[in-house]
Amino acid sequence: MHESKKKWDKIWDKIKVYFDRILIFSVKSITLLVTHSKVVWKKMPDQIKRLLVPIVMIIAAFVIARKLLVPSDFGQNGHYRASAVDEIISREIQYVGHKVCEDCHDDITGMIGNSYHRNVMCEVCHGPAAQHIDDPGGKSLPAPRERGYCPLCHEYLPPRPTGFPQIVSESHNPIKACISCHDPHDPKTPEIPKECEACHAEIARTKALSHHVDLACTVCHETSEAHKSQPRQNRPNIPKTREFCGMCHDKNSTESQDILKIDMDTHGERYICWQCHYPHLPEGK
Ligand code: HEC
Ligand code: HEC
Ligand code: HEC
Ligand code: HEC
Ligand code: HEC
Ligand code: HEC
Ligand code: HEC
Ligand code: HEC
Repeated sequence: MHESKKKWDKIWDKIKVYFDRILIFSVKSITLLVTHSKVVWKKMPDQIKRLLVPIVMIIAAFVIARKLLVPSDFGQNGHYRASAVDEIISREIQYVGHKVCEDCHDDITGMIGNSYHRNVMCEVCHGPAAQHIDDPGGKSLPAPRERGYCPLCHEYLPPRPTGFPQIVSESHNPIKACISCHDPHDPKTPEIPKECEACHAEIARTKALSHHVDLACTVCHETSEAHKSQPRQNRPNIPKTREFCGMCHDKNSTESQDILKIDMDTHGERYICWQCHYPHLPEGK
C-alpha cells in the first residue's frame, strides 16, 4: 500500500514537471504572438481568420458552461461532489430486511423458513417495507398475486441452471393464478394423484398441465377396483355423449361460474366434443 503510494507520487512529480514545461512554452508562444500581433494578423490568410471566430466562440462557450454546470463543491474531496455524501445519507431508508417481519408475521416466517422459498426474502416479493414497519395498518404491503409475477424467476430460460424449477408459463396450467395451486410461502409441487398415474402416466402428466387438472380421472371414467388388477377385462367407462361435457360447460349448467360456458345447441355444430377438444388437455382459445 505504502510502497505503491510512493511510486505514484514519483510519477506524479514527473508529470508535473512536464506540465510546467508545456505551460511555460505556451505562455512564451502567446507573448510572442501578442508582441508581434500586428505582423502575425496581417500575414494570416483570410480563411484562417474566419475560422478563428467560431473557435474562439466555442472555447468561450465551453468556459462559461463549465462555470455554470460544475457544482461549487466539486473537487473538495477529489474527483467527487462533496455534498453527494450528505444527500445519500439523508435519503429515506426503504428496505428493512426479513428479520423484522418475524415480530408480527411469525406464522409466515416460520412456514417459509422450511420451504423452497427460504432464500427468497420477503421484500423481493412484497417490495420495500420500511414504511409498513412504522405503520402496519396505514401502509399495508402489496402482494404479487397476478400470474405474470412468478415467471420472473421460474420461466424456462436456457441459461438458468439445470435443476432450478422452471416452467413454460404459456403451457403450464394457463390462465389460472400460480398461487391457486402453489402457496407462495410454501411452494410445494402439488401431488398428481398416484393411482391411475401408475399405469396411465402420460395421460396423467398431460392432464396435470391442463385446464382439467382439478378433475379426478374418475369424474369422467367410472372405474371398478377390478380394473387395476385385470385392466383389459374390466374396462372403465368412457363418456359417450356431448351432454356429459355439458354437465359442466352448458350455459344453463349450475356448475361453478369459473368454468367457461358454451351454447350446447350451436357450439361445435353438434359434433362430439372430443372431435375438437382432447379431453385430457382441452383448449378453448
Ligand atoms: C409491527 C408489526 C408488523 C411488522 C413488523 C410487519 N408487519 Fe406486515 N402487517 C402487519 C399488520 C397489522 C398487517 C395488516 C394490515 C391490514 O390489514 O391493513 C400487515 C399486513 C401485511 C401484508 C399485506 C397483507 C394483505 O392482506 O395483503 C403484507 C404483504 C405484509 N404485512 C408483509 C410484511 C413484511 C414483508 C414485513 C417485514 C419486512 C412485515 N409485514 C412486517 C403488521 C406488521
Ligand atoms: C415468492 C414471493 C413471496 C415471498 C418470498 C413472500 N411472500 Fe408473502 N405473499 C406472496 C403472495 C403472492 C401473497 C398473496 C397470497 C394470497 O393472496 O393467497 C402473499 C401474502 C402475504 C401476506 C398476507 C396474506 C397471508 O397469507 O396472511 C402476508 C402477511 C405476507 N405475505 C407476508 C410475507 C412475509 C413476512 C414474508 C417473508 C417471511 C413473505 N410474505 C414472503 C408472495 C410472497
Ligand atoms: C426471486 C425469485 C423467485 C420468485 C419471484 C419466485 N420464486 Fe419460486 N423459487 C425460487 C427459488 C430460489 C426456489 C428454490 C429452488 C431450489 O430449491 O433449487 C423456488 C422454488 C419454487 C417451487 C418449488 C419447485 C420444486 O422444486 O418442487 C415452486 C412450485 C415455486 N418456487 C413457485 C413459485 C411461485 C408460485 C411464485 C410466485 C408467487 C414464485 N415461485 C416466485 C425463486 C423464486
Ligand atoms: C392448476 C394448478 C397449477 C397452476 C395454476 C400452476 N401450477 Fe405449477 N405445478 C402444478 C403441478 C401439478 C406441478 C407438478 C407437476 C409438474 O411438474 O408438472 C407444478 C409444478 C411447478 C413447478 C416445478 C417444476 C419442476 O420442474 O420442478 C414450478 C416451478 C411451478 N409449477 C411454477 C408455477 C408458476 C410460476 C405458475 C404460474 C405461472 C404455476 N406453476 C401455475 C400445478 C399448477
Ligand atoms: C394396473 C394398471 C392400471 C391402473 C392402475 C389403471 N389402469 Fe386403466 N388401463 C390399463 C390398461 C392395461 C388398459 C387397457 C389399455 C388398452 O387396451 O390399450 C387400461 C384402459 C383404460 C381406459 C380405456 C378403456 C377403453 O375402453 O379403451 C380407461 C378410460 C382407463 N383405463 C382409465 C383408468 C382410470 C381412470 C384409472 C384410475 C382410477 C385406471 N385406468 C387405472 C391399466 C391400468
Ligand atoms: C373431462 C373428462 C375426462 C377426464 C378428467 C379424464 N378423461 Fe380419459 N377420456 C375422456 C374422454 C372423453 C375419452 C375418449 C376420448 C376419445 O375417444 O378420443 C377419454 C379416453 C381415455 C382413455 C382411452 C383413450 C386414450 O386416450 O388413450 C384412457 C386410457 C383415459 N381416458 C384415461 C384417463 C386417465 C388415466 C385420466 C386421469 C389422469 C383421465 N382419463 C381423465 C375424458 C376424460
Ligand atoms: C367443431 C369443433 C368443436 C366441437 C365439436 C366442440 N368445440 Fe368447443 N371450441 C371449439 C373452438 C374452435 C373453440 C375456441 C373458439 C370459441 O370460443 O368458439 C372452442 C371453445 C370451447 C370452450 C371455451 C369457450 C370460451 O368461451 O372460451 C369450451 C368450454 C368448449 N369449447 C367446450 C366444448 C364442449 C363441452 C363441446 C361438446 C358439447 C365442444 N366444445 C365441442 C371447437 C369445438
Ligand atoms: C366436472 C366438470 C367438468 C366436466 C365434466 C368437463 N369439464 Fe371441461 N373444464 C372444467 C373446468 C373446471 C375447467 C377449467 C376452468 C375453465 O378454464 O373453464 C374446464 C376447462 C375446459 C376447457 C378449456 C377452456 C379454456 O379455458 O380454454 C375446455 C375446452 C373443456 N373444458 C372441454 C371439456 C370437454 C370436451 C369435456 C367433456 C369431455 C369437459 N370439458 C368436461 C370442468 C369440466
